[in-house]
Amino acid sequence: MKGIQMVNLVSHYNRYKKLIDARINSVLEHGKFIQGPEVREFEHELAKFLGVNHVITCGNGTDALQIAFMALNLKEGSEVIVPSFAYAALPEVLLLLRLKPIFVDVNQDTFLIDIKKVEEKITEKTVAIAPVHLFGQNANMEAIVKIAKENNLKIVEDAAQSLGSWYCSENIHGASGCIGDIGITSFFPSKNLGCFGDGGAIFTNDSKLAERARKISNHGQSKKYTHEIIGLNSRLDTMQAAILLAKLPHLESCIYGRVKVAERYQSELSKISSIKLPKRDSNGTHSYHQYTIKLENSIIRDNLAAYLHSKNIASMIYYPLPLHRQKAYSVLIDLSVSENLCSTVLSLPICPELTEVEQFEIINEIKFFFNQ
Ligand SMILES: Cc1ncc(COP(=O)(O)O)c(C=O)c1O
Repeated sequence: MKGIQMVNLVSHYNRYKKLIDARINSVLEHGKFIQGPEVREFEHELAKFLGVNHVITCGNGTDALQIAFMALNLKEGSEVIVPSFAYAALPEVLLLLRLKPIFVDVNQDTFLIDIKKVEEKITEKTVAIAPVHLFGQNANMEAIVKIAKENNLKIVEDAAQSLGSWYCSENIHGASGCIGDIGITSFFPSKNLGCFGDGGAIFTNDSKLAERARKISNHGQSKKYTHEIIGLNSRLDTMQAAILLAKLPHLESCIYGRVKVAERYQSELSKISSIKLPKRDSNGTHSYHQYTIKLENSIIRDNLAAYLHSKNIASMIYYPLPLHRQKAYSVLIDLSVSENLCSTVLSLPICPELTEVEQFEIINEIKFFFNQ
């Protein structure tokens, strides 16, 4: 029994099968599996789509964060402000590089980094702010850019979930991940633009940073067997670049599909008072990488998830534990919003291939659960 999954990657592939297969076959025929021509072609096409000067692809989104921070060449022990309600990649990479993640709380309605809390955490050791554009919506970049300018801080944007969304405020507009000094994304299969394995990219308008990031991603080499700085082996496979090239022209229509699903959830679930729906920040677009609702408490949330599971409908808890409470990065602070969200959020299936019939099945089961 397959039921309704969070994302349907097989029907997604079937939708673009001809285009993807043609690209894959072409790689099989030329045989340049590492750093083949598709890699640079994809970087060029993605840079054009985003309106950013440089795109450097790499092995995955976590490596992209590591390369971005390595490229910034920050002093050991420096502090970087990050949200606690997010994915683990940021603190993991910071601690590996002997930088210190400083966790802050998020806004309870948008799930995004709480700007008022950011200012409170700035010390003489702070060197950067790393907003996460969680679930596909951009953090308040207008405020983040202002704070960064006033305090001489770098901005590293985590756009792993928001690729293809746009930030637009009074003074700032641009593609998600391309507004700060450096930004990253992930091409993990379920992401807005997913490949068929691991993949990631770094974005920047700064030529020097771009040059360093490119070197770092390829063993710190300027040319073959000339290692100038310490680097990594983190390259996007040619095959993955080929798949992404086939899919990139359809990213906007895929996001449109996600938005349609989100709008239907929004209008149908708004009648259930026990559910708090995700709030939109008015600045720019939302790519709805996830559609995440909030329940009154953890018991109702867990019961709803179990009920949906019994009906063969997937749901996920993004995320069950705030980062400051994880054993690996644990700090004794109280971030009550992040903690509350971890026990009350539930993400529902969302992808461009989710049919109206499937979505009404989910909606009707949720209504039934709440006796509506
Ligand atoms: C917000 C965020 N940042 C970073 C990453 C890391 O990306 P990857 O899985 O490609 O390493 C993810 C992946 O789930 C993510 O959601």
